[in-house]
Amino acid sequence: IKKYGYQPCVNIGTAGHVDHGKTTLIQALTGSWTSVHSQELKRGITIRVGYSDAAFYKCKKCEEPLGYSTTPKCNNCGKESELSRVVSFVDSPGHESLMANMLSGSALMDGALLLVAANEKVPKPQTKEHLLALQTLGIQQIVVVQNKVDLLSYKEALVNYQEITKFVKGSHGAKAPIIPISAQSGLNIDALIGAIESSIKTPERDEKADTVMHVLRSFDVNKPGIKLKDIKGGVIGGSLTQGVFNVGDEIEIKPGILNEKKKTYEPLLTEITSLGTAAGIVESVKPGGLVAIGTKLDPAMTRSDSFIGSVIGKPGTLPENSTLLKLEVNLFDSAVGVTEDIKVLPIKSGELLRLNIGTAPILGKVTKVKSKNIEIELRRPACIFEGGNVAISRRIAERWRLIGAGIVG
Ligand code: GTP
Ligand code: MG
Ligand code: MG
Repeated sequence: IKKYGYQPCVNIGTAGHVDHGKTTLIQALTGSWTSVHSQELKRGITIRVGYSDAAFYKCKKCEEPLGYSTTPKCNNCGKESELSRVVSFVDSPGHESLMANMLSGSALMDGALLLVAANEKVPKPQTKEHLLALQTLGIQQIVVVQNKVDLLSYKEALVNYQEITKFVKGSHGAKAPIIPISAQSGLNIDALIGAIESSIKTPERDEKADTVMHVLRSFDVNKPGIKLKDIKGGVIGGSLTQGVFNVGDEIEIKPGILNEKKKTYEPLLTEITSLGTAAGIVESVKPGGLVAIGTKLDPAMTRSDSFIGSVIGKPGTLPENSTLLKLEVNLFDSAVGVTEDIKVLPIKSGELLRLNIGTAPILGKVTKVKSKNIEIELRRPACIFEGGNVAISRRIAERWRLIGAGIVG
């Protein structure tokens, strides 16, 4: 574990078409390759949402964009730099079949880097679909990254830059800076860090409100063959959006686990035994970047991300589990995730949709449609916050495609 002294204060996501270099960039910024699961290595793509932390430093003497780095020593003049921010990265998969995972990760992003490979036509389907996803989920702070400029001549790179400018113009990314880089050779990373520091601000958060943590991962951290007395409880990773947690706090996890006999989900109560962040092992955590909480749960329960999509708070403070989702929807004109845009038809009663509620992807059947207001019966209960954004996907050409968004009413 790297230790930066501070909990990361912001979650910065990646977005963009498959193979455009998202994970390579996160490696350039954080030093770690986040796609380490066997299937990811075998197929050469990111499947699960990856995460990693970095510290950004700024030299006091060098002029911008020089002097930004990920080490305390200035790359430009060699003198000592000051810490600017400690940040977390949430690395999305770009493959078109993995939108659900991308949307889960997006639920935690405060800002995002939209990667566009300079050696490809602009825009590719997931360049469009991910940008729409960010817009849909209210992620306003965006930096566009023109990657792989090492593969082009200066002239070709300029032409591509113009194409990217044209593409983002009509979107909510219109004001975003566009930074040419090569993630692979570490070219212009200082300028990118400068753009992140000025365009992706740390949001203001309410540490006094009831704590809410959205879960992105969960683990069993014990090595096989460990002695019973040494076994550590289940570990859960995610981010707090408000409030704080301290070691020793009682917590409630919703929707919890399925009671096979009663056929209902029951919230889980447990206690925080440890807290980890990029600052190392800490006594308390607040809203911001990624945190991991150690619990007294049986580690077999939290194995292989089984808690993704859960919400954690102090007992009795979270919304009740519910399978009824009421939304005011806003549909796109077309679904953009496939090569040819497909017109989005109105939502019909009886149809099956996939809803991304916080970090949870859940299927549901539409039971009522009254102009923009729809009601959905979810296949499993969720902890649903009023006013929250929900991404809506529909099955088009054998795949779930993003077709719009709704606000929980
Ligand atoms: P998914 O997560 O599967 O969507 O892919 P990704 O966007 O994370 O791309 P990844 O980082 O896995 O990179 C894809 C390929 O592009 C790899 O072979 C990288 O080595 C290569 N690549 C990434 N950045 C650059 C770059 O700046 N220049 C060149 N020439 N190749 C790059
Ligand atoms: Mg990747
Ligand atoms: Mg790849």
